[in-house]
Amino acid sequence: MTEERTSLWGGRFAGGPAEALARLSVSVQFDWRLAPYDIAASRAHARVLAAAGLLDPDELGRMLAALDDLEAACASGEFRPTVDDEDVHTALERGLLERLGALGGKLRAGRSRNDQVATDLRMYLRDHARGVAGRLVELADALVEQAERHVDTPAPGMTHVQHAQPVSFGHWLLAHVQPLLRDLDRLRDWDARAAISPLGSGALAGSSLPLDPAAVAHELGFRAPAPNSMDAVADRDFVAEFLFVTALIGVHLSRLGEEVVLWTSTEFGWAELDDAFATGSSIMPQKKNADIAELARGKSGRLVGGLVAVLTMLKGLPLTYDRDMQEDKEPAFDAVDTLQLLLPALAGMISTMTVRVDRLVAAAPVGFSLATEVADWLVRRGVPFRDAHEITGRLVALCAARECELEDVTDDDLKTVSEHLDPSVREVLSVRSALAARTTFGSTGPGPVAEQLATVQHRLDSWREWAIETVVPR
Ligand code: ARG
Repeated sequence: MTEERTSLWGGRFAGGPAEALARLSVSVQFDWRLAPYDIAASRAHARVLAAAGLLDPDELGRMLAALDDLEAACASGEFRPTVDDEDVHTALERGLLERLGALGGKLRAGRSRNDQVATDLRMYLRDHARGVAGRLVELADALVEQAERHVDTPAPGMTHVQHAQPVSFGHWLLAHVQPLLRDLDRLRDWDARAAISPLGSGALAGSSLPLDPAAVAHELGFRAPAPNSMDAVADRDFVAEFLFVTALIGVHLSRLGEEVVLWTSTEFGWAELDDAFATGSSIMPQKKNADIAELARGKSGRLVGGLVAVLTMLKGLPLTYDRDMQEDKEPAFDAVDTLQLLLPALAGMISTMTVRVDRLVAAAPVGFSLATEVADWLVRRGVPFRDAHEITGRLVALCAARECELEDVTDDDLKTVSEHLDPSVREVLSVRSALAARTTFGSTGPGPVAEQLATVQHRLDSWREWAIETVVPR
């Protein structure tokens, strides 16, 4: 250990760490963002030490003042970690020692980096889950606004990327909002489980000092202290689970991205992106590319990868803390950063996108997408669906051979295909009537879609408050 180096360990070591070890071991370049949470936890710990008589009132006052000063210095950038600080905890202890001298060394009593880092990361993720939720709501808002405009715009609903049945384009857009609402639910469910405070667990066994884990938990916005000190420092379920939620969000954004890529292609031509949310080509002057949508698709890879990395890292770990667990942070931070970057871009792209109603209207009936209407019409006339399906299939085959649409066949053709068909079947051969006929809950008719829209708007409103809530006292 060199003289000027602040280390949290070293008493039993003859010399300083090898350069190669130090370079491998250091995490401050990425865990520095935990500093505000570490300081908040230090404040709570200082109060508990004072309540236990381990700091006198004057010492507590000086300790809290130094922590405030250090916090301000971190925020302004005046205090920065150095290459010699192993991690955020080391750097902050150096900052405290610089301000308080020997008194700064008292704060570490009854506390270990093992319970500290687990606490800091929980606080960071709980805080940022709300930030991510806020951005999710903004994307959902953008989709809802478009949906509101297109409740009555028909589109060719697809399965297997083949025209299937006409749907309302508003319904289609809302089908991308529903997964986001589930993601929001998942974040809040996760938050309730993550709101457990590891602080007081020490390295793994709790403390012989009269600490007060419940008071600390309360001060830091947690629901309760951890019931088992070993589990508290070994548990990273909250990271894995957070990463599952962000991975699934990534998958949802990727599927939306893929559709926007299709919609904006020349072949579909259903939507046009605003210039501000599209990119050009360095060689082809005519190009307008949906790069945001493609990056949404592409970035799902790193979100899924982060989850896999953390699950794999945890899989064989013996209790309790192992240094492997330092690897939990970069995927977690990356997931937050990725979504903070991606969601506003997607929201902007969606809200400024122009939907080509004419193209959608023209495409909606193409590919015999009204065939099911004919079958249902026959069913209403008492024909078993099995036969209705057969008859309609024969009608489609006739049209395909003649290269005409269902409504183009003559009255005689209808009679030839089946005795059950007659000219009044033409009533159901319009997109508008097909949509209007869909009146049941959750279906794509104008009534249920308007109802869905109202419910979705109401649910999104209830999320706005949660998204700006602060979990960590400042
Ligand atoms: N930087 C470490 C981590 O992120 C902090 C905990 C270190 N604990 C230890 N016993 N070495 O996990």
